[in-house]
Amino acid sequence: MKRNGVVYTPEYWADWAVETYGIAEKWIKGGVVLDPGCGEGSLTTAVIRRAFHIGYSPTPDDLARLNCIDRDVKAIRAFREELQGITGMHFSEVSLHIGDYLLENPGIRADVVFSNPPWISFGDMDNEDKGKYKPVFRSSGLTPNPKSLILGGSRIDLAALFVAVALNRDTAENGEGVFFLPSSLFRSEAAHSAFRQLKLPGGRSFALKEIWDMEGEVPFPGAGTAYCLAYYKADEIQQWPVSWYLSESANTWKKMAAEPAEGPESPLMPRPAGSPRIRPPRIQVPQGTVPRQGVNSQGATAVFQIREIGEVRDGRMPVVSKNGVQGFLPAELVFPLMSVSTFSENREIGDDPIPDKWIFMPYRQNGKVLNREELETFPDALEWIERHRDELESRRGMMLKQAIKKGIYWSMIGVGPYSFAPWKLAWESYGRNRFVPRLFCAENGVHWQGNQALHAFLPFDNKKSAHRAFQDLLSPDLEEYLKKLGGAGTKTWAQPGRIRRLLASEFQ
Ligand SMILES: C[S@@+](CC[C@H](N)C(=O)[O-])C[C@H]1O[C@@H](n2cnc3c(N)ncnc32)[C@H](O)[C@@H]1O
Repeated sequence: MKRNGVVYTPEYWADWAVETYGIAEKWIKGGVVLDPGCGEGSLTTAVIRRAFHIGYSPTPDDLARLNCIDRDVKAIRAFREELQGITGMHFSEVSLHIGDYLLENPGIRADVVFSNPPWISFGDMDNEDKGKYKPVFRSSGLTPNPKSLILGGSRIDLAALFVAVALNRDTAENGEGVFFLPSSLFRSEAAHSAFRQLKLPGGRSFALKEIWDMEGEVPFPGAGTAYCLAYYKADEIQQWPVSWYLSESANTWKKMAAEPAEGPESPLMPRPAGSPRIRPPRIQVPQGTVPRQGVNSQGATAVFQIREIGEVRDGRMPVVSKNGVQGFLPAELVFPLMSVSTFSENREIGDDPIPDKWIFMPYRQNGKVLNREELETFPDALEWIERHRDELESRRGMMLKQAIKKGIYWSMIGVGPYSFAPWKLAWESYGRNRFVPRLFCAENGVHWQGNQALHAFLPFDNKKSAHRAFQDLLSPDLEEYLKKLGGAGTKTWAQPGRIRRLLASEFQ
Protein backbone atom coordinates (compact mmCIF):
# COMPACT_ATOMS: atom_id res chain seq x y z
CA MET A 1 0.00 0.00 0.00
CA LYS A 2 1.41 3.41 -0.92
CA ARG A 3 -0.37 6.68 -0.30
CA ASN A 4 1.26 9.83 1.04
CA GLY A 5 4.48 7.98 1.64
CA VAL A 6 2.79 5.13 3.48
CA VAL A 7 4.42 1.75 2.92
CA TYR A 8 4.07 -0.69 5.78
CA THR A 9 7.11 -2.72 6.75
CA PRO A 10 6.92 -6.39 5.77
CA GLU A 11 7.04 -8.72 8.78
CA TYR A 12 10.25 -10.29 7.56
CA TRP A 13 12.19 -7.00 7.66
CA ALA A 14 10.64 -5.86 10.93
CA ASP A 15 11.71 -9.14 12.62
CA TRP A 16 15.17 -8.89 11.10
CA ALA A 17 15.72 -5.32 12.36
CA VAL A 18 14.51 -6.24 15.87
CA GLU A 19 16.94 -9.14 15.98
CA THR A 20 19.86 -7.24 14.44
CA TYR A 21 19.73 -4.51 17.08
CA GLY A 22 18.50 -6.61 20.02
CA ILE A 23 15.56 -4.22 20.42
CA ALA A 24 13.32 -6.69 22.28
CA GLU A 25 16.13 -7.55 24.72
CA LYS A 26 16.75 -3.86 25.45
CA TRP A 27 13.02 -3.35 26.00
CA ILE A 28 12.65 -6.36 28.32
CA LYS A 29 15.50 -5.00 30.44
CA GLY A 30 13.50 -1.81 31.02
CA GLY A 31 14.25 0.23 27.91
CA VAL A 32 11.72 2.69 26.51
CA VAL A 33 10.90 2.19 22.83
CA LEU A 34 9.33 4.80 20.55
CA ASP A 35 7.73 3.99 17.18
CA PRO A 36 6.75 7.30 15.55
CA GLY A 37 4.57 6.89 12.45
CA CYS A 38 3.72 3.40 13.69
CA GLY A 39 0.91 2.78 11.16
CA GLU A 40 -0.68 -0.57 11.90
CA GLY A 41 2.25 -1.44 14.12
CA SER A 42 4.51 -3.68 12.00
CA LEU A 43 7.60 -2.65 13.97
CA THR A 44 6.25 -2.69 17.50
CA THR A 45 4.46 -6.01 17.04
CA ALA A 46 7.78 -7.44 15.83
CA VAL A 47 9.35 -6.37 19.14
CA ILE A 48 6.59 -8.12 21.11
CA ARG A 49 6.75 -11.19 18.88
CA ARG A 50 10.47 -11.47 19.50
CA ALA A 51 9.95 -11.29 23.28
CA PHE A 52 7.54 -14.25 23.13
CA HIS A 53 9.94 -16.03 20.81
CA ILE A 54 12.74 -15.86 23.37
CA GLY A 55 10.37 -17.12 26.06
CA TYR A 56 9.39 -13.83 27.74
CA SER A 57 5.76 -12.85 28.44
CA PRO A 58 5.52 -9.05 28.55
CA THR A 59 3.70 -7.49 31.50
CA PRO A 60 1.35 -4.47 31.18
CA ASP A 61 4.25 -2.35 32.53
CA ASP A 62 6.47 -3.58 29.73
CA LEU A 63 3.80 -2.81 27.16
CA ALA A 64 3.46 0.73 28.52
CA ARG A 65 7.14 1.29 27.60
CA LEU A 66 6.28 0.76 23.93
CA ASN A 67 5.20 4.15 22.66
CA CYS A 68 3.48 4.35 19.31
CA ILE A 69 2.22 7.44 17.52
CA ASP A 70 0.43 7.86 14.23
CA ARG A 71 -1.83 10.53 12.83
CA ASP A 72 -3.94 7.96 10.97
CA VAL A 73 -6.89 6.99 13.20
CA LYS A 74 -7.81 3.97 11.10
CA ALA A 75 -4.28 2.58 11.24
CA ILE A 76 -4.16 2.93 15.02
CA ARG A 77 -7.52 1.20 15.30
CA ALA A 78 -6.30 -1.71 13.18
CA PHE A 79 -3.14 -1.84 15.31
CA ARG A 80 -5.10 -1.97 18.55
CA GLU A 81 -7.20 -4.89 17.29
CA GLU A 82 -4.15 -6.80 16.18
CA LEU A 83 -2.41 -6.24 19.51
CA GLN A 84 -5.21 -7.91 21.43
CA GLY A 85 -4.64 -11.00 19.34
CA ILE A 86 -0.90 -11.01 20.04
CA THR A 87 -0.72 -10.03 23.68
CA GLY A 88 -4.14 -11.15 24.90
CA MET A 89 -4.26 -7.81 26.73
CA HIS A 90 -5.46 -4.30 26.06
CA PHE A 91 -2.76 -1.89 25.18
CA SER A 92 -2.49 1.04 27.53
CA GLU A 93 -3.95 4.21 25.98
CA VAL A 94 -0.81 6.16 26.88
CA SER A 95 1.33 4.00 24.67
CA LEU A 96 -0.89 4.16 21.59
CA HIS A 97 -1.30 7.74 20.62
CA ILE A 98 -3.24 9.28 17.75
CA GLY A 99 -1.54 12.52 16.86
CA ASP A 100 0.92 14.36 14.71
CA TYR A 101 4.40 13.34 15.74
CA LEU A 102 6.02 16.39 14.20
CA LEU A 103 3.68 18.92 15.75
CA GLU A 104 3.00 17.37 19.15
CA ASN A 105 5.71 16.58 21.63
CA PRO A 106 4.87 13.21 23.21
CA GLY A 107 7.31 13.99 26.05
CA ILE A 108 9.14 10.67 25.77
CA ARG A 109 12.82 9.90 26.36
CA ALA A 110 13.28 6.77 24.30
CA ASP A 111 16.21 4.42 24.68
CA VAL A 112 15.43 3.12 21.21
CA VAL A 113 13.57 4.98 18.48
CA PHE A 114 12.45 2.33 16.00
CA SER A 115 10.68 3.80 13.01
CA ASN A 116 9.72 3.47 9.40
CA PRO A 117 8.68 7.07 8.85
CA PRO A 118 6.73 8.33 5.84
CA TRP A 119 8.81 8.63 2.66
CA ILE A 120 7.57 11.62 0.78
CA SER A 121 9.42 14.63 -0.54
CA PHE A 122 8.38 18.07 0.63
CA GLY A 123 7.50 19.02 -2.95
CA ASP A 124 5.04 16.11 -3.24
CA MET A 125 3.14 16.88 -0.04
CA ASP A 126 -0.26 18.57 -0.20
CA ASN A 127 -0.44 22.27 0.59
CA GLU A 128 -1.93 21.74 4.03
CA ASP A 129 0.96 19.49 5.12
CA LYS A 130 3.52 21.81 3.52
CA GLY A 131 2.16 24.71 5.55
CA LYS A 132 2.15 22.68 8.77
CA TYR A 133 5.62 21.19 8.46
CA LYS A 134 7.51 24.13 6.96
CA PRO A 135 8.23 25.70 10.37
CA VAL A 136 9.29 22.28 11.73
CA PHE A 137 11.71 21.84 8.83
CA ARG A 138 13.09 25.32 9.47
CA SER A 139 13.68 24.77 13.17
CA SER A 140 15.15 21.28 12.64
CA GLY A 141 18.42 22.43 11.09
CA LEU A 142 17.52 20.67 7.83
CA THR A 143 16.99 23.81 5.80
CA PRO A 144 19.73 26.24 6.74
CA ASN A 145 18.77 28.46 3.83
CA PRO A 146 15.21 29.82 4.24
CA LYS A 147 14.66 29.64 0.47
CA SER A 148 15.73 26.03 0.17
CA LEU A 149 12.22 24.68 0.71
CA ILE A 150 11.09 26.54 -2.37
CA LEU A 151 14.12 25.78 -4.50
CA GLY A 152 16.09 22.53 -4.70
CA GLY A 153 15.38 21.74 -1.06
CA SER A 154 11.81 20.87 -1.90
CA ARG A 155 13.07 17.38 -2.72
CA ILE A 156 13.97 16.95 0.93
CA ASP A 157 12.14 13.98 2.40
CA LEU A 158 9.76 14.04 5.35
CA ALA A 159 11.63 10.97 6.62
CA ALA A 160 14.68 13.21 7.22
CA LEU A 161 12.55 15.40 9.45
CA PHE A 162 11.34 12.40 11.46
CA VAL A 163 14.96 11.38 12.07
CA ALA A 164 16.04 14.90 13.08
CA VAL A 165 13.10 15.39 15.45
CA ALA A 166 13.38 11.92 16.97
CA LEU A 167 17.12 12.17 17.62
CA ASN A 168 16.95 15.63 19.07
CA ARG A 169 13.71 15.73 20.98
CA ASP A 170 12.79 12.21 21.98
CA THR A 171 15.97 10.17 22.37
CA ALA A 172 17.32 9.52 25.87
CA GLU A 173 20.98 10.18 26.65
CA ASN A 174 23.11 7.72 24.64
CA GLY A 175 19.91 6.39 23.07
CA GLU A 176 19.71 4.67 19.70
CA GLY A 177 17.78 5.23 16.49
CA VAL A 178 16.88 2.45 14.05
CA PHE A 179 15.15 3.79 10.94
CA PHE A 180 13.97 2.35 7.63
CA LEU A 181 14.74 5.14 5.17
CA PRO A 182 14.91 5.87 1.47
CA SER A 183 18.57 5.49 0.43
CA SER A 184 18.41 8.89 -1.25
CA LEU A 185 18.93 10.46 2.19
CA PHE A 186 22.50 9.18 2.05
CA ARG A 187 23.07 9.00 -1.69
CA SER A 188 21.40 11.97 -3.38
CA GLU A 189 23.01 15.34 -4.03
CA ALA A 190 21.80 18.73 -2.85
CA ALA A 191 18.38 17.90 -1.35
CA HIS A 192 19.82 15.97 1.60
CA SER A 193 23.17 17.65 2.06
CA ALA A 194 21.92 19.46 5.18
CA PHE A 195 20.60 16.15 6.55
CA ARG A 196 24.02 14.53 6.17
CA GLN A 197 25.81 17.28 8.05
CA LEU A 198 22.89 17.90 10.37
CA LYS A 199 23.59 20.19 13.27
CA LEU A 200 20.85 19.60 15.79
CA PRO A 201 19.52 22.80 17.33
CA GLY A 202 20.94 23.09 20.83
CA GLY A 203 24.17 21.42 19.73
CA ARG A 204 23.30 17.85 20.68
CA SER A 205 25.49 15.39 18.81
CA PHE A 206 24.59 12.08 17.22
CA ALA A 207 26.37 9.67 14.95
CA LEU A 208 25.38 7.51 12.04
CA LYS A 209 26.95 4.12 12.75
CA GLU A 210 25.65 1.57 10.25
CA ILE A 211 23.68 1.35 7.05
CA TRP A 212 22.05 -1.81 5.71
CA ASP A 213 21.67 -1.10 2.04
CA MET A 214 18.82 -3.13 0.57
CA GLU A 215 19.21 -1.86 -2.97
CA GLY A 216 19.63 -5.32 -4.42
CA GLU A 217 16.38 -6.57 -2.91
CA VAL A 218 12.71 -5.78 -3.55
CA PRO A 219 11.01 -6.71 -0.30
CA PHE A 220 9.02 -3.50 0.36
CA PRO A 221 6.12 -3.98 -2.03
CA GLY A 222 5.13 -0.59 -3.40
CA ALA A 223 8.08 1.34 -1.97
CA GLY A 224 9.19 2.23 -5.49
CA THR A 225 12.54 3.52 -4.36
CA ALA A 226 15.83 2.20 -3.00
CA TYR A 227 15.82 2.01 0.78
CA CYS A 228 17.97 1.02 3.70
CA LEU A 229 18.05 0.57 7.46
CA ALA A 230 20.11 3.22 9.26
CA TYR A 231 21.42 2.91 12.81
CA TYR A 232 22.22 6.03 14.88
CA LYS A 233 23.66 6.64 18.35
CA ALA A 234 22.74 9.81 20.19
CA ASP A 235 25.39 11.91 22.01
CA GLU A 236 28.30 10.55 20.02
CA ILE A 237 30.60 12.40 17.66
CA GLN A 238 30.42 11.20 14.08
CA GLN A 239 33.37 9.07 12.97
CA TRP A 240 34.09 7.98 9.42
CA PRO A 241 33.97 5.52 7.82
CA VAL A 242 30.74 3.83 8.94
CA SER A 243 29.83 0.22 8.28
CA TRP A 244 27.82 -0.22 5.12
CA TYR A 245 26.27 -3.66 4.52
CA LEU A 246 25.22 -4.32 0.97
CA SER A 247 22.48 -6.90 0.42
CA GLU A 248 23.46 -9.81 -1.74
CA SER A 249 21.43 -12.78 -2.86
CA ALA A 250 20.02 -15.29 -0.34
CA ASN A 251 19.98 -12.82 2.56
CA THR A 252 23.74 -12.40 2.82
CA TRP A 253 25.43 -9.06 3.33
CA LYS A 254 28.71 -7.81 1.96
CA LYS A 255 30.55 -5.68 4.50
CA MET A 256 31.67 -2.34 3.12
CA ALA A 257 32.90 0.92 4.58
CA ALA A 258 31.41 4.29 3.66
CA GLU A 259 32.26 7.92 4.09
CA PRO A 260 31.22 11.16 2.40
CA ALA A 261 32.66 11.43 -1.11
CA GLU A 262 34.08 14.87 -0.25
CA GLY A 263 32.93 17.29 2.47
CA PRO A 264 30.51 16.10 5.19
CA GLU A 265 27.53 17.29 3.13
CA SER A 266 28.35 15.10 0.14
CA PRO A 267 26.77 11.69 -0.58
CA LEU A 268 28.16 8.62 1.15
CA MET A 269 30.28 6.37 -0.99
CA PRO A 270 30.69 2.72 0.00
CA ARG A 271 33.85 0.75 -0.80
CA PRO A 272 34.88 -2.81 0.10
CA ALA A 273 35.93 -2.88 3.77
CA GLY A 274 39.70 -2.66 4.08
CA SER A 275 40.22 -1.13 0.63
CA PRO A 276 41.69 2.38 0.46
CA ARG A 277 39.46 5.43 0.53
CA ILE A 278 38.21 6.49 -2.90
CA ARG A 279 39.81 9.69 -4.11
CA PRO A 280 37.46 11.67 -6.33
CA PRO A 281 38.99 12.46 -9.74
CA ARG A 282 39.62 16.13 -10.56
CA ILE A 283 38.60 18.16 -13.59
CA GLN A 284 40.74 21.25 -14.23
CA VAL A 285 38.66 24.22 -15.35
CA PRO A 286 39.02 28.01 -15.38
CA GLN A 287 37.69 29.69 -12.25
CA GLY A 288 33.93 30.23 -12.26
CA THR A 289 33.15 27.35 -14.67
CA VAL A 290 29.81 25.81 -13.76
CA PRO A 291 28.27 22.65 -15.24
CA ARG A 292 24.82 23.16 -16.75
CA GLN A 293 21.83 21.12 -17.79
CA GLY A 294 20.43 21.31 -21.31
CA VAL A 295 17.69 23.65 -22.52
CA ASN A 296 14.31 23.05 -20.95
CA SER A 297 11.09 23.94 -22.77
CA GLN A 298 9.12 23.13 -19.62
CA GLY A 299 6.75 20.72 -21.29
CA ALA A 300 6.52 22.43 -24.70
CA THR A 301 8.83 20.08 -26.59
CA ALA A 302 6.23 19.84 -29.36
CA VAL A 303 6.73 23.57 -30.00
CA PHE A 304 10.49 23.86 -29.68
CA GLN A 305 11.79 20.47 -30.78
CA ILE A 306 12.27 19.93 -34.50
CA ARG A 307 12.48 16.46 -35.99
CA GLU A 308 13.18 17.36 -39.66
CA ILE A 309 14.75 20.30 -41.41
CA GLY A 310 14.94 21.15 -45.10
CA GLU A 311 17.23 23.22 -47.29
CA VAL A 312 17.75 26.77 -46.07
CA ARG A 313 16.91 29.56 -48.55
CA ASP A 314 17.38 33.22 -47.71
CA GLY A 315 17.83 32.28 -44.07
CA ARG A 316 14.44 30.45 -43.96
CA MET A 317 14.52 26.85 -42.84
CA PRO A 318 11.60 24.50 -43.57
CA VAL A 319 10.90 22.50 -40.41
CA VAL A 320 8.70 19.69 -39.09
CA SER A 321 8.16 19.83 -35.34
CA LYS A 322 8.35 16.88 -32.98
CA ASN A 323 4.64 16.18 -33.38
CA GLY A 324 4.48 16.78 -37.13
CA VAL A 325 3.59 20.48 -37.45
CA GLN A 326 5.18 22.02 -40.58
CA GLY A 327 6.39 25.57 -41.06
CA PHE A 328 9.41 27.80 -41.49
CA LEU A 329 11.85 29.09 -38.92
CA PRO A 330 14.84 31.43 -39.18
CA ALA A 331 17.89 29.17 -39.59
CA GLU A 332 19.88 31.28 -37.14
CA LEU A 333 17.46 30.39 -34.32
CA VAL A 334 17.55 26.62 -34.89
CA PHE A 335 20.29 24.58 -33.21
CA PRO A 336 21.33 20.93 -33.29
CA LEU A 337 20.03 19.08 -30.23
CA MET A 338 22.07 16.37 -28.56
CA SER A 339 20.52 12.91 -28.66
CA VAL A 340 21.46 9.27 -28.02
CA SER A 341 23.28 9.06 -31.36
CA THR A 342 25.41 12.12 -30.50
CA PHE A 343 27.08 10.08 -27.77
CA SER A 344 27.30 6.80 -29.62
CA GLU A 345 30.50 5.05 -28.59
CA ASN A 346 30.96 3.73 -32.13
CA ARG A 347 31.87 7.16 -33.33
CA GLU A 348 35.51 8.21 -33.28
CA ILE A 349 36.18 10.77 -30.56
CA GLY A 350 37.13 13.53 -33.02
CA ASP A 351 34.28 12.94 -35.50
CA ASP A 352 31.61 15.59 -35.73
CA PRO A 353 28.28 14.12 -34.72
CA ILE A 354 25.39 14.35 -37.19
CA PRO A 355 22.26 15.87 -35.65
CA ASP A 356 18.97 13.99 -35.80
CA LYS A 357 16.99 16.55 -33.74
CA TRP A 358 17.05 20.31 -33.52
CA ILE A 359 15.76 22.94 -31.15
CA PHE A 360 14.23 26.31 -31.89
CA MET A 361 15.47 28.95 -29.44
CA PRO A 362 14.09 32.49 -29.74
CA TYR A 363 17.14 33.88 -27.98
CA ARG A 364 20.04 36.23 -28.62
CA GLN A 365 23.53 34.82 -28.45
CA ASN A 366 24.13 36.60 -25.14
CA GLY A 367 21.56 34.21 -23.67
CA LYS A 368 18.74 36.75 -23.41
CA VAL A 369 15.28 35.89 -24.71
CA LEU A 370 14.14 37.95 -27.72
CA ASN A 371 11.76 40.70 -26.77
CA ARG A 372 8.63 41.40 -28.84
CA GLU A 373 10.39 44.00 -30.99
CA GLU A 374 13.30 41.70 -31.73
CA LEU A 375 10.95 38.81 -32.44
CA GLU A 376 9.14 40.91 -35.03
CA THR A 377 12.36 41.07 -37.04
CA PHE A 378 11.98 37.27 -37.47
CA PRO A 379 8.50 36.95 -39.05
CA ASP A 380 8.70 33.13 -39.30
CA ALA A 381 9.61 32.81 -35.62
CA LEU A 382 6.81 35.19 -34.65
CA GLU A 383 4.28 33.26 -36.72
CA TRP A 384 5.42 29.92 -35.20
CA ILE A 385 5.22 31.28 -31.68
CA GLU A 386 1.81 32.85 -32.16
CA ARG A 387 0.50 29.64 -33.70
CA HIS A 388 1.45 27.82 -30.48
CA ARG A 389 0.45 30.56 -28.07
CA ASP A 390 -2.08 28.59 -26.00
CA GLU A 391 0.32 25.72 -25.50
CA LEU A 392 3.15 28.05 -24.50
CA GLU A 393 1.05 30.08 -22.10
CA SER A 394 -0.34 27.05 -20.31
CA ARG A 395 3.12 25.95 -19.13
CA ARG A 396 3.79 25.75 -15.40
CA GLY A 397 6.79 26.75 -13.31
CA MET A 398 7.49 29.82 -11.23
CA MET A 399 10.15 31.37 -13.46
CA LEU A 400 8.13 30.85 -16.63
CA LYS A 401 5.00 32.28 -15.05
CA GLN A 402 6.90 35.52 -14.40
CA ALA A 403 8.05 35.70 -18.04
CA ILE A 404 4.53 34.91 -19.29
CA LYS A 405 3.13 37.67 -17.08
CA LYS A 406 5.48 40.10 -18.80
CA GLY A 407 4.13 38.90 -22.18
CA ILE A 408 7.29 36.91 -23.11
CA TYR A 409 5.47 33.60 -23.28
CA TRP A 410 8.13 32.06 -25.59
CA SER A 411 10.73 31.89 -22.78
CA MET A 412 12.57 28.68 -21.97
CA ILE A 413 14.48 27.50 -18.89
CA GLY A 414 18.21 26.83 -18.72
CA VAL A 415 19.31 29.28 -21.41
CA GLY A 416 22.10 31.75 -20.73
CA PRO A 417 25.35 32.99 -22.28
CA TYR A 418 26.73 29.50 -21.56
CA SER A 419 24.25 28.06 -24.09
CA PHE A 420 26.24 29.92 -26.77
CA ALA A 421 29.75 29.31 -25.41
CA PRO A 422 32.38 28.82 -28.14
CA TRP A 423 33.31 25.44 -26.64
CA LYS A 424 31.16 22.91 -24.84
CA LEU A 425 32.14 19.70 -23.20
CA ALA A 426 28.96 17.64 -22.91
CA TRP A 427 27.86 14.20 -21.66
CA GLU A 428 24.70 12.21 -21.05
CA SER A 429 23.72 12.92 -17.46
CA TYR A 430 20.55 10.85 -17.00
CA GLY A 431 19.93 7.11 -16.82
CA ARG A 432 23.31 5.95 -18.15
CA ASN A 433 26.06 3.75 -16.81
CA ARG A 434 28.77 4.88 -19.22
CA PHE A 435 30.39 8.30 -19.21
CA VAL A 436 31.04 9.42 -22.78
CA PRO A 437 32.14 13.06 -23.09
CA ARG A 438 31.97 14.99 -26.40
CA LEU A 439 33.66 18.22 -27.24
CA PHE A 440 31.69 20.72 -29.37
CA CYS A 441 33.23 23.73 -31.04
CA ALA A 442 31.02 26.55 -32.33
CA GLU A 443 33.65 28.17 -34.55
CA ASN A 444 31.41 27.53 -37.55
CA GLY A 445 28.49 29.16 -35.69
CA VAL A 446 26.79 25.86 -34.79
CA HIS A 447 25.92 25.80 -31.11
CA TRP A 448 24.92 22.29 -30.06
CA GLN A 449 22.37 22.26 -27.24
CA GLY A 450 21.72 19.71 -24.51
CA ASN A 451 18.23 18.30 -24.11
CA GLN A 452 16.88 19.14 -20.64
CA ALA A 453 18.15 16.87 -17.83
CA LEU A 454 19.33 14.27 -20.35
CA HIS A 455 22.53 16.18 -21.04
CA ALA A 456 24.90 18.32 -19.06
CA PHE A 457 27.86 20.35 -20.21
CA LEU A 458 30.74 22.59 -19.20
CA PRO A 459 31.03 25.83 -21.19
CA PHE A 460 34.46 27.22 -22.19
CA ASP A 461 35.68 30.43 -23.80
CA ASN A 462 38.75 28.92 -25.37
CA LYS A 463 40.09 25.78 -26.94
CA LYS A 464 42.94 25.32 -24.50
CA SER A 465 40.86 25.08 -21.36
CA ALA A 466 38.21 22.97 -23.14
CA HIS A 467 40.85 20.47 -24.26
CA ARG A 468 42.45 20.34 -20.85
CA ALA A 469 39.14 19.50 -19.16
CA PHE A 470 38.33 17.03 -21.96
CA GLN A 471 41.42 14.99 -21.05
CA ASP A 472 40.22 14.82 -17.44
CA LEU A 473 36.71 13.76 -18.51
CA LEU A 474 38.15 10.99 -20.66
CA SER A 475 39.78 9.35 -17.65
CA PRO A 476 38.17 5.97 -16.80
CA ASP A 477 38.46 6.99 -13.12
CA LEU A 478 35.54 9.36 -13.60
CA GLU A 479 33.14 6.67 -14.77
CA GLU A 480 34.30 4.40 -11.93
CA TYR A 481 33.74 7.17 -9.41
CA LEU A 482 30.21 7.87 -10.69
CA LYS A 483 29.37 4.18 -10.45
CA LYS A 484 30.53 4.11 -6.84
CA LEU A 485 28.21 6.99 -6.07
CA GLY A 486 25.43 4.55 -6.94
CA GLY A 487 23.55 6.45 -9.64
CA ALA A 488 24.20 4.13 -12.61
CA GLY A 489 21.02 3.81 -14.66
CA THR A 490 19.19 6.46 -12.60
CA LYS A 491 18.30 10.08 -13.15
CA THR A 492 21.18 11.18 -10.93
CA TRP A 493 23.91 9.46 -12.98
CA ALA A 494 26.12 12.43 -13.98
CA GLN A 495 23.98 15.45 -13.18
CA PRO A 496 25.73 18.83 -12.90
CA GLY A 497 25.77 18.77 -9.06
CA ARG A 498 27.88 15.59 -9.08
CA ILE A 499 30.37 16.92 -11.59
CA ARG A 500 30.57 20.33 -9.97
CA ARG A 501 32.16 18.83 -6.90
CA LEU A 502 35.02 17.49 -9.00
CA LEU A 503 35.95 20.79 -10.61
CA ALA A 504 39.28 22.23 -9.64
CA SER A 505 40.82 25.52 -10.61
CA GLU A 506 43.70 27.51 -9.21
CA PHE A 507 41.31 29.63 -7.21
CA GLN A 508 38.50 27.20 -6.35
C1 LIG B 1 5.89 4.38 5.92
S1 LIG B 1 4.49 4.24 6.98
C2 LIG B 1 5.14 3.10 8.10
C3 LIG B 1 4.19 2.57 9.07
C4 LIG B 1 4.77 1.60 10.06
N1 LIG B 1 5.80 2.24 10.87
C5 LIG B 1 5.36 0.39 9.39
O1 LIG B 1 6.58 0.25 9.45
O2 LIG B 1 4.65 -0.41 8.81
C6 LIG B 1 4.52 5.82 7.76
C7 LIG B 1 3.43 6.11 8.76
O3 LIG B 1 3.63 7.43 9.25
C8 LIG B 1 2.37 8.04 9.49
N2 LIG B 1 2.57 9.49 9.52
C9 LIG B 1 2.85 10.32 8.49
N3 LIG B 1 3.03 11.56 8.90
C10 LIG B 1 2.86 11.54 10.25
C11 LIG B 1 2.92 12.53 11.26
N4 LIG B 1 3.20 13.78 10.98
N5 LIG B 1 2.71 12.14 12.54
C12 LIG B 1 2.44 10.87 12.83
N6 LIG B 1 2.35 9.89 11.92
C13 LIG B 1 2.57 10.21 10.65
C14 LIG B 1 1.50 7.52 8.39
O4 LIG B 1 0.12 7.61 8.74
C15 LIG B 1 2.00 6.08 8.24
O5 LIG B 1 1.24 5.21 9.00
